[in-house]
Amino acid sequence: MGRPRVVFVDDPDELGRVGADLAVETITRDPASWVVVATGRTPMGLYAELASRRRAGLIHTDQITAVQLDEYLGLGAGDRRSLLGWMRRSFLEPLEIPDDRVMTLPLDGDLVRGCSAFDEAIEDRGGLDLAILGLGENGHLGFNEPPSDDEARTRKVQLSPVTIEANARYWGAASDVPSEAVTVGLHSLLAARRIVLVVSGEAKHEIVREVVDGPVGPAVPASYLQEAEGDVTVVVDRAAWGSDRVPRAT
Ligand code: GLP
Repeated sequence: MGRPRVVFVDDPDELGRVGADLAVETITRDPASWVVVATGRTPMGLYAELASRRRAGLIHTDQITAVQLDEYLGLGAGDRRSLLGWMRRSFLEPLEIPDDRVMTLPLDGDLVRGCSAFDEAIEDRGGLDLAILGLGENGHLGFNEPPSDDEARTRKVQLSPVTIEANARYWGAASDVPSEAVTVGLHSLLAARRIVLVVSGEAKHEIVREVVDGPVGPAVPASYLQEAEGDVTVVVDRAAWGSDRVPRAT
């Protein structure tokens, strides 16, 4: 247990390369890794970098299992806003991961039962090897909205106005963003053997400092990374952190 390692990078390109280095290390050590994969804009460079390293024969992704991190509720089949669709385009297709190696979240039927089966499958398998995560402007991981504590399980959630507003950037307007979602819970995420949190852009300036240096608690769900048992790296670019490269008062 300890504070996350903070790696400072200049810009989104370097963030993609450094994040990919960490992911490659895990996948090379354990080719059958279970990897939870965030959507959002920040990890896109990391995924593009992984795809190009794969094309160059530098990594093999033919045994990894990809685990969905979050999904909106209430979308019809083929909806352009599907986060699984985004995950397919950005991660699964470029890395040629077939459907039978993708663990998707339950979206209908008995969600309580489906979500606990999802967590059990992860637990039975021995947990996640790698979590590639982005940071919400309100400190969420996946859709673990504040308040969420470190025991939070995979579940249905209501999205906060801040998150709906932030997600509107992807889909057009706030009215295009569904108000409910399913997210992998913090409990499973925090137990991952390696966590890579990628943070980019000025809008994350205040929250990333709270995540790394602030008090740990449900008001900033990502702050629990400070207490995670695994290997946690926050890769943050200059626009997000600012120019002083000192993660905390010592
Ligand atoms: C979204 C998603 C998260 C994502 C985060 C940051 O709401 N639920 O999984 O990591 O917000 O997104 P971005 O990288 O676009 O800032």
